[in-house]
Amino acid sequence: MNSEWIRNLPKAELHLHIEGSLEPELMFSLAARNQIALPYASVEEVRAAYAFTNLQSFLDIYYAGAGVLWTEQDFFDLTWAYLERAHADGVVHAEIFFDPQTHTDRGVAFEPVVTGIHQALQQAQERWGMTSGLILCFLRHLSEEAALQTLQQALPFRDWIVGVGLDSSEIGHPPEKFARVFAQAEAEGFLKVAHAGEEGPSEYIWSALDVLGVARIDHGVRSEEDPDLMKRLATERVPLTVCPLSNTKLCVFGSMREHNLRRLLESGLCVTVNSDDPAYFGGYVAANYEAVAEALSLGTDHLAELARNSFRASFLPASEKSRRLAEVEAFVQGGGGNTSG
Ligand code: HPA
Ligand code: ZN
Repeated sequence: MNSEWIRNLPKAELHLHIEGSLEPELMFSLAARNQIALPYASVEEVRAAYAFTNLQSFLDIYYAGAGVLWTEQDFFDLTWAYLERAHADGVVHAEIFFDPQTHTDRGVAFEPVVTGIHQALQQAQERWGMTSGLILCFLRHLSEEAALQTLQQALPFRDWIVGVGLDSSEIGHPPEKFARVFAQAEAEGFLKVAHAGEEGPSEYIWSALDVLGVARIDHGVRSEEDPDLMKRLATERVPLTVCPLSNTKLCVFGSMREHNLRRLLESGLCVTVNSDDPAYFGGYVAANYEAVAEALSLGTDHLAELARNSFRASFLPASEKSRRLAEVEAFVQGGGGNTSG
């Protein structure tokens, strides 16, 4: 597969944890700036520690890494570094997650976190016309009460946050644990998504839809275990934000060849491709498209459909979706060679 074609294909990224875009090099420079000791001697040693066996083994290292982030400037630098890579990968619209509780529980205030991220998103819009949305994720291993408090902290920044999500350790923390917080978030006008069916059972996908009322499912790869659920997801075109390199790194699938993305797509589901935590899983969004193209023998028709789905599944207004879908068509019909990128 031509990697330049994949990079130039206009696409949206809908499943990206900004804390998961912290590259080891930036981790070291922020640690130095904030005078924080890291338990690693070098960038190579950090990368060597990224040998995960499941979701929790990753989360332990991911939360520790986020400990270098303290100031508004740190959050700006983190977000800007991601946006430059996303822009280089053909991302023209990004809906990114942040985990405020990871920071507020360490004594960092909500305001510098959200302000630093927001300023970088604004700069990407001004510089490249890249559009974006910011999604606040509640940590599901913490209590519903803590999530309710976090929602309150977000209200002064209502205009900067498009929606709420649910992430962290899935098994044992079903979506219904957060029924009240999602109902309150909806009443405040936030859109809703949730991680479900990554490691957790397909029942969690049902309850994310029926109890939380989410518009998209993050991951959702275990939906295949339930034919009735597959039917519903196809009929209602509920988007799945699939993250192939994440799934193989966290051993959800034994190898990329065993990934079910192609079957999900060919079953009529609105599948999208995303990078999740690219600094930890070995690649940004274009690398994820390349990995599935190669392992699952996807051609340009499949890849263009994945890109179209990324805009269809986005929280963009209808007119913007149409404009971006037309850009995909122009790219595909032009043979992918004549765009200015
Ligand atoms: N799953 C759950 N929580 C997360 C993830 C993920 O893939 N990445 C960051 N937090
Ligand atoms: Zn995720």
